[in-house]
Amino acid sequence: MTFRTATEYVENVSPGSGALPPRPWYASSDAKSLSLNGSWRFRLSDTADAEDDSFAEEGYDAGGWAEVSVPGHWVLQGHGSPIYTNHLYPFPVDPPRVPTENPTGDHLRVFDLPEDWPADGGAVLRFDGVESCARVWLNGTDIGEFKGSRLPHEFAVGHLLKTVDNVLAVRVHQWSAGSYLEDQDQWWLPGIFRDVTLLHRPAGSTLDFFVHASYDHVTGTGTLRVDSDVDGRVTVPGLGVDIATGEPVTVPVEPWTAERPTLYDGVLATEGERVPLHIGFRTVELSDGLIKVNGRAVLFKGVNRHEWHPERGRALDLETMREDVLLMKRHNINAVRTSHYPPHPAFLDLCDELGLWVIDECDLETHGFTEQAWRDNPVDDDRWTPALLDRAARMVERDKNHPSVIIWSLGNEAGTGRGLTAMAEWIRGRDSSRLLHYEGDLGCRDTDMYSRMYADHAEVERIGRGLDGGTHKRRELPFILCEYGHAMGNGPGGLVDYQRIFESYDRLQGGFIWEWIDHGIQDERYGYAYGGDFGEELHDGNFVCDGLLFPDRQPSPGLVEYKKVIEPVAIEGDGDGTLRITNKYDFADLSALAFTWSYQVDGETVGSGDLTVPALAPGESAEVKLPEPPATAPAGEAHWTVRALLAADTPWAPRDHVVAWGQVAVSARQAPSVAATDGPVLGDALITLGPASFDARTGALRTVGGVDVTGLRLDVWRATTDNDDGAAWQTDVRYGLLWRKLGLHRMRHRLDAVELGDDALTVRTRVAPAAWEIGLSTVYRWTSDGNRLQLTVSVTPDGDWTVPLPRLGIRFGLSAADRVRWFGGGPGEAYPDSRMASTVGRWQSTVDDLQTPYVRPQENGARADVRWAEIGGLRIEGDPEFFFTARRWTTEQLDAAAHRTDLSPGSAVWVNLDHGQHGLGSQSCGPGPLPQYHLAAEPAEFSFVLSEAPASETR
Ligand code: GAL
Repeated sequence: MTFRTATEYVENVSPGSGALPPRPWYASSDAKSLSLNGSWRFRLSDTADAEDDSFAEEGYDAGGWAEVSVPGHWVLQGHGSPIYTNHLYPFPVDPPRVPTENPTGDHLRVFDLPEDWPADGGAVLRFDGVESCARVWLNGTDIGEFKGSRLPHEFAVGHLLKTVDNVLAVRVHQWSAGSYLEDQDQWWLPGIFRDVTLLHRPAGSTLDFFVHASYDHVTGTGTLRVDSDVDGRVTVPGLGVDIATGEPVTVPVEPWTAERPTLYDGVLATEGERVPLHIGFRTVELSDGLIKVNGRAVLFKGVNRHEWHPERGRALDLETMREDVLLMKRHNINAVRTSHYPPHPAFLDLCDELGLWVIDECDLETHGFTEQAWRDNPVDDDRWTPALLDRAARMVERDKNHPSVIIWSLGNEAGTGRGLTAMAEWIRGRDSSRLLHYEGDLGCRDTDMYSRMYADHAEVERIGRGLDGGTHKRRELPFILCEYGHAMGNGPGGLVDYQRIFESYDRLQGGFIWEWIDHGIQDERYGYAYGGDFGEELHDGNFVCDGLLFPDRQPSPGLVEYKKVIEPVAIEGDGDGTLRITNKYDFADLSALAFTWSYQVDGETVGSGDLTVPALAPGESAEVKLPEPPATAPAGEAHWTVRALLAADTPWAPRDHVVAWGQVAVSARQAPSVAATDGPVLGDALITLGPASFDARTGALRTVGGVDVTGLRLDVWRATTDNDDGAAWQTDVRYGLLWRKLGLHRMRHRLDAVELGDDALTVRTRVAPAAWEIGLSTVYRWTSDGNRLQLTVSVTPDGDWTVPLPRLGIRFGLSAADRVRWFGGGPGEAYPDSRMASTVGRWQSTVDDLQTPYVRPQENGARADVRWAEIGGLRIEGDPEFFFTARRWTTEQLDAAAHRTDLSPGSAVWVNLDHGQHGLGSQSCGPGPLPQYHLAAEPAEFSFVLSEAPASETR
């Protein structure tokens, strides 16, 4: 054993040395394995060479060391801190050099072999993921070093093993030359974050095998051939197949699709081992300019998935992976891009089993080089090409037997260069059965599809029409949006508008929402921490929280909206007693679904039953007659609600799970009206009008019946969302900033007149920000019939309003409120361009439950299309319908909060009744709201009827 402090390998562009060639990941049926996950001894140093390697020696006493869990990241276990940057390298860019300050974690584990560990044969030690560079010793022998954080590395160690007291020493460096290739937008999290396993390799066991299983949709047959470097036999009992490796067989099969993921269990038996196979027959091709599977074009309804757990970072357990897939399936998602690295391999097993199309992306991103006009970009520098090819091979060899993987992606945001072309050529040579993706290749030199991120609706439509130009090759190719719908904070808006465009042009094969889950880190101080919360020198704040799931995997309203937008059955009608039902699956007919109808009057269900819908083939539509409305239905505003449910339990959701739904209005709503029979009466300090009292000097509402009301006035401000504020690099106008510049968050309310008329109290005001001449002339007109109070608000903009309004409505405080009931859109929040999932009905909640807990607090929780609401003893009816919001803090407090923990309930509940809200859009990384969702500053009139709620239960 030599003592060595040399750490040259850390900054070497080489992918490493000593590892075995890459091969598939599987759990052998009979070869033994030993998990080395668990508690390891751990020592952290500040630099790569601070300590010598004597710790790797047998007999080293690490008794004084700390302990960490493997898999895990040491920075999430009390040693050092995580760092979040989007694309900036958190170290000087001088490839392949890294800083002297290079947190280095020495990991030590002593293990015995199980008693039944065979004496013969070899063994390999497998690391499924270590960030970013590791050197490994077993029993004092240096067995190699490697880079490629989210890729597997195996070492032959049979000759080194002892029965007891094996000393496995792993030195992990946070920074290495490999870090230059791993500049993904995520936390930098060093550590052994995936499994470490010792695998017995019996003599005569296969090293590498490749399952080729294609499907011929014309004949309905599948062709299977399993290549193996060690000869053996392949049996598939369900198909009566028993063939030699390398020998093809064609048999009738059910194909594999994401919609119906039929897998055939088989075995590859070599002399030394039985390898379980899960075979899915499917053929992926580019044909007629389209991505086709089994002869049919597919429409991706996808998400980008980073691996994330709020406590364990990228060290995911199987349960969490399964939960991700189940949540995706239950939300109608059919595709996942493994942004931006191959996931834990067990995740792909779940995709095979439960059915998701996968774009498997290589662990490669060099985005930070954009800051120097891509100079020195490793993907265009031949010295790095071996490292790139190594990464491509490790991905392809590990994942090639998964039917769910239909597209390989070279990586993300790595510019362009010869290295990428070399990867593409290698991948095509190795696996011609899948297509290639890389978004950075705008001319599609190396790829099979034109792919973009965050293109706006108009551009996507132009691409659909083939009017986008580009290279000749690109014009012949299908299009996907590999990222869109930036789900940061409240949003994204505009998803349904994208979906309509996708569905209108064959060339558009759908997209993948950015992204699946917020990468918030559970933190006592903040609830969830984001960039900057660990004192990072450089960081990108809460840009790391941009998912459809909150960090605890609770679905955000964005996910609920997406589920509705991409539902595989369209249920539409115009209230004439007939529905149009369309099957939007790519492969499945509707036989797995059962349909129900219900009939609501004023939101109360008065009848329900089953609806017979033909088992339409994909793409087919049918007119389906609804029953007669229930004879007992009272008069009122009526709706049909029709749902498509799972007819039987599936592996991903139980029977009766709602897959799709539609709601059809039958009769219009009767707007509330109050006859102005009472007049205002001036008393000492108060004006009374019907059930209400007002301040005599200011005309401010004080009480409605027994309910105290404070601060009722016009409100145009909302705590800006991440999408309102927009990303710094956006070239379009960012309204969140303009609104603040114009002072819409600090409007002054000038009182011009309090007028007592015969049948109305009129309060005239001008609402305007300091420093500017723009304003809103606002008139509150109060009338009453003695029982109820009607407020009509008229707003007339003065001056040159060049911006839309964030919101337009009134707000007021109630001294006590908890339970809330309403008739209108629900159960969740909705905004003008994200309201598809909002269902008209009777809903109830509490003030606390109305809040949507965005990791960085911002506008949230509005319920749309509300006809009436009851809160704090008050009943509010709207003409027209309104957005309803209630919270235990003011908008100003919400606006000022940086984390959930900054919000503490005050004594009052603040209620907003909005005539309008500005759309959400996706400008935190994509386009802002479409023009039709802007809340223009223009004359508006809206009214509310206030009265005491019938039951005191809503106080
Ligand atoms: C893309 C990138 C993603 C993520 C996203 C913004 O440019 O590919 O990794 O950074 O923007 O959240």
